[in-house]
Amino acid sequence: SLPVPSVQEIVRNDFQSVPDRYIHENKDRELNSDNFASSLEVPVIDFSLLAKGEEGEIRKLDLACKDWGFFQITNHGLRDEVLHKMKATVAAFFELPLEEKKKYAKAANEIQGYGQNFVVSEEQKLDWSDMIYLITVPPERRNFKFWPLSLPGFKDAIEEYSAEVQKVAEELYANFSVLMGLDRDGLKRLQGELKQGIRMNYYPVCSRPDLVLGISPHSDGSTFTLLLQDDEVTGLQIKHKQVWVPVKPIPNSLVVNVGDAAEIQSNGMYKSIEHRAITNEEKPRISIATFVFPDDEQEIGPLESMIDDSHRPRMYRNIKYVDYIREKFARRMEGKAHTDFV
Ligand code: SIN
Ligand code: FE2
Repeated sequence: SLPVPSVQEIVRNDFQSVPDRYIHENKDRELNSDNFASSLEVPVIDFSLLAKGEEGEIRKLDLACKDWGFFQITNHGLRDEVLHKMKATVAAFFELPLEEKKKYAKAANEIQGYGQNFVVSEEQKLDWSDMIYLITVPPERRNFKFWPLSLPGFKDAIEEYSAEVQKVAEELYANFSVLMGLDRDGLKRLQGELKQGIRMNYYPVCSRPDLVLGISPHSDGSTFTLLLQDDEVTGLQIKHKQVWVPVKPIPNSLVVNVGDAAEIQSNGMYKSIEHRAITNEEKPRISIATFVFPDDEQEIGPLESMIDDSHRPRMYRNIKYVDYIREKFARRMEGKAHTDFV
């Protein structure tokens, strides 16, 4: 059985119910306050121009990663049909009866499967969301025990989406490599065999969105994350210069963010930014986060080309990626910021 209840079930049983374990006392919770700016917007990058090597767009990418750590990409090459099928199959999965979804439940010591985020202690505040996480690349790492293969079209939709989004990720790696003073394959070479995992999030409606968080503030441990978000329902917010800024959906675009691995390799030039998701009373929200990350055994650290003893001294030590992730999750509960310990 699941270690904590499905939030979707809580709401299905009683729309008004908001159990204590979901209520955040944190003053940072306010959805509209001095700490909130709805008029700022994350940069938008035309991905087709990056792929063509347009200097202006590459500079825009560089600035977006330095100033924001987040940007949206349009003209990324993923066909609308692939995006649509992916969203539809994820929606269909969450609509399955609980008993069916539980067949793919994540075990306590596993990262893959259906369940809830970051459940490490009895006292901890829980997030107002359910999710299913699957490792998708390399294909040998797929564990079909966690895949709802009886759901028509699920496997095809994921495989197609995974392959297309990986092409975008590889083009991003190539651009980052060049921006960090390497050849186009440089970053990939330093990360060993690239891994990809897809986390599909379901945020049920909530009668008190002012009390809960869909996902609590965190940074991603990936190199990059590519997020396909709902076209209409806004939920993602990023911490930009001490202020929460909502990322307004642009239909059929992808939201990209710099993860901790890229922050470390860029020696802090690119920022892995804290972000969170909020909920609302009217509509459930689905988001699909694709994480691209280094091989577990690979050691990551600031690139030589990003260290300059007089102007930009080394900011992080080298660490094996699997150890980085282990420490990140161990320290998360002590409230320390990401990458602080490296
Ligand atoms: C995440 O941070 O993993 C998900 C954010 C979102 O649902 O928009
Ligand atoms: Fe995230």
